[in-house]
Amino acid sequence: MRTAEIREGYLSFFESKGHLRLPSFSLIPENDPSLLFTSAGMAPLKPYFLGARPIFGGKEWRRVTTCQKCLRVGDIENVGRTGRHNTFFEMLGNFSFGDYFKREAILWAWEFLTEHLKLEPDRLWVTVYEDDDEAYALWRDLVGVPEEQIGRFGEEENYWPGGAITHGPNGPSGPCSEIFYDRGPAFGTPDETGPNTGSGDRFVEIWNLVFTQYDRQGPIPGPGILKPLPQKNIDTGMGLYRVAAILQGVEDFYRTDTFYPILERVALLSGRPYLGQESVSHRVIADHVRAVVAALSDGVTFSNTGRGYVIRRLLRRALRHGYLLGLAEPFLHRLAPVVAELLGDFYPEMRENLAAVERQVRLEEERFLETLEGGLKRLDALLSGLRPGEVLPGGEAFRLYDTYGFPLDLTVEIAAERGFGVDTEGFKRALEAQQERSRAAMAFEREIFKRSAQVLEELYAEKGATEFLGYGTLEAEAQVLALLAGDESLGEAGPGTEVQVVLDRTPFYAEGGGQIGDFGLLEWPGGRARVETTHRTEQGIFLHRARVEEGVLRVGERVRAVVDPKRRDTERNHTATHLLHAALRAVLGPHVRQAGSLVAPDRLRFDFTHPEALTGEELERIELLVNRWILADFPVTWRYLPLEEARKEGAMALFGEKYGEVVRVVRVEGSPLEGLESKELCGGTHVRRTGEIGAFLIRGEEAVSAGVRRIEAVTGEGAIRFARGALSRLKALTERLEVGEAAIEERLEKLLAELRAKEKEVEGLKARLVQAALGGGGGLALEEKGGLRWAALKLPGLDLAALRQAADDLVGRGADVALVLSGGQAVLKLSKRAQEKGLEAGSLFRALAERAGGRGGGKGALAQGGGLDPERARLVLPELLP
Ligand code: SER
Repeated sequence: MRTAEIREGYLSFFESKGHLRLPSFSLIPENDPSLLFTSAGMAPLKPYFLGARPIFGGKEWRRVTTCQKCLRVGDIENVGRTGRHNTFFEMLGNFSFGDYFKREAILWAWEFLTEHLKLEPDRLWVTVYEDDDEAYALWRDLVGVPEEQIGRFGEEENYWPGGAITHGPNGPSGPCSEIFYDRGPAFGTPDETGPNTGSGDRFVEIWNLVFTQYDRQGPIPGPGILKPLPQKNIDTGMGLYRVAAILQGVEDFYRTDTFYPILERVALLSGRPYLGQESVSHRVIADHVRAVVAALSDGVTFSNTGRGYVIRRLLRRALRHGYLLGLAEPFLHRLAPVVAELLGDFYPEMRENLAAVERQVRLEEERFLETLEGGLKRLDALLSGLRPGEVLPGGEAFRLYDTYGFPLDLTVEIAAERGFGVDTEGFKRALEAQQERSRAAMAFEREIFKRSAQVLEELYAEKGATEFLGYGTLEAEAQVLALLAGDESLGEAGPGTEVQVVLDRTPFYAEGGGQIGDFGLLEWPGGRARVETTHRTEQGIFLHRARVEEGVLRVGERVRAVVDPKRRDTERNHTATHLLHAALRAVLGPHVRQAGSLVAPDRLRFDFTHPEALTGEELERIELLVNRWILADFPVTWRYLPLEEARKEGAMALFGEKYGEVVRVVRVEGSPLEGLESKELCGGTHVRRTGEIGAFLIRGEEAVSAGVRRIEAVTGEGAIRFARGALSRLKALTERLEVGEAAIEERLEKLLAELRAKEKEVEGLKARLVQAALGGGGGLALEEKGGLRWAALKLPGLDLAALRQAADDLVGRGADVALVLSGGQAVLKLSKRAQEKGLEAGSLFRALAERAGGRGGGKGALAQGGGLDPERARLVLPELLP
């Protein structure tokens, strides 16, 4: 039975029992800050368990059935390693809000399983909460389940949420009864004699019936109080994929029809077939890409906190597993359409949002892949430096996180594969220390504003706002009105003191509208203070953050305020930003809107809405338009207007202006021939004529987020320096390549072609080296001990990848234990047979290393390391075999 048929069968079965079928709720819980993601079918329905009236479509419904999208990341390290763990999954459920209770829930579950799905009753086992005699009796007497197949368990297994009485969470909860399917002894371990016993996969939990009748309240951890709810409810959850695996007769859900096509696509992209349990990487990728697509389709975006970080972690883990399969280019976005195809019929949002999801995934992949390799190398080096039993220091794990974007669980996973632990506590301490540092810095800024707020209020009441002179001049005489340090108002400030200086008038521009705050000097007879930057309070008081360098600055002192002449460069960049904005609209279209900007002396940065990357041609046209505008030397003027009037005149308003305000409109005339003109509401400082800008060069264009692009550019001397730098590099290149400028591309093509040919040659040589070392095409003499064939070979000249290939080849030719060594490195590979006989590559390698010097580790079939004495290793290996 196909998964879609099971889903539909369930929903219509419960419809026939009087339930309303609702579509799945979003993965992003609405109005439930306690949950990161929707993690069970009942989560979005919580209020109705607590007594809210369940009105849907204008009618009251006390029976509801859903197939709910769920995401759980608590067990992420087990995903891929078992056939049971899953991040994104679908839960089928039937719910009663104060309507039917245990009897119907039990009878209908049985009817659906045995009559609709036709599961053999003998294979179904059930469990109930330890003192729930009522449920026990219903199963035994009404349904007829033999007593041997009914178990009683405590709150960890048979209360939901598991262990909630003792550990929380608070909220609706109750005893539960679980239904298990017995897959037969072949799937189990000898100690697995029924549900919740042993360590095998014989008894699979397929359905949980929760008798939701308590509101758990109180401290966490508890013990909590169980307050009876105003009504008795039913919450059930059936695992769609587990049931599908049983009905499709496959080993686990990975082989079912909703997963397998993804695994096949991974196999196709990587050239590595899916081999079931051992293909952990295929599985992790398939699981994680489903979760990422589902979450993005519901509106989550990648970020560094909360939900966005969870999916970023999932994507990064998947990418790293792709890397293990040799996928070094972005590939996950190519799986997104497969996911949408598999799930889109039932979850249309996945199909509708596919294009945007693909784009987000691709950008995110590109970003991480840039640093992945560097991070892996760094981690590899760190792990190689560890001795067996040591752990990776938390500070190093934090640096990997900070520099290469390695989430902690990724580092932990990679370290574990090599047999090492990670000091996660140390990581957390380092992370907290960093957060503390940035919090402290922010708190400091806030404090300054908060504590001095009162002084500023008084000052404003007495003297009004600061008069700004900076549109016309860079220098002015002014009087010191106040000196602030923290919450204190000082009378004077001596050498070395940092203060916020308030003047009656100032030529210093205060940060705003993307333009940075001015810096410069305050001078007075016998003294000097350096202004680092300037801010402005809401009332319009300018705060000059300054450090007294010489003399003593006193309130009442008359000073000369001198803005650093670099401000002229800032002005060039600011006016150029307006020209760029107009040119972008002229070339790309009127949908272009400013989405942020930075104007500094050395560069400008402009973010704007546009759906795709700009072509080289578009960038050239934009640059040319701006430069022509500069060369034509048009005047830049400004005036104050009421906002409404400015709008009527067509000035481009940005964000934040309030209706009724008087605004400043900056206008740059343009040649009617080009059809260009710029009018913007802007408080910034500008050149007087466009010619002052000198020149304008675009340094780069890139994406900021979906639908937002960024251009960085330079003007004036900055543009000249930028061009000079590029020309000098070009000249140096022609000299090194020993050709004229015109021939440089041709020469480069030739060199690259030569390089590719050489690389191919080297690959071929390596392969031949492996073949030769292993005895050509002919038979290979393997030695034998205890029924295991083994070989230990020294293969000089092979790198690690070639060694791994050689070990694979050896196993392919019948070796059960293959050890290959070269230049200080060693790889150990075991056949399936050897593993079945109880050998494990990691421990065998460590035992070997202990006796032959060196170190290393691994897991399952493969281990590697270095420093072994080859002769000794060959001698010792057979002794370690059983
Ligand atoms: N809420 C229960 C679970 O998640 C049943 O739906 O198992």
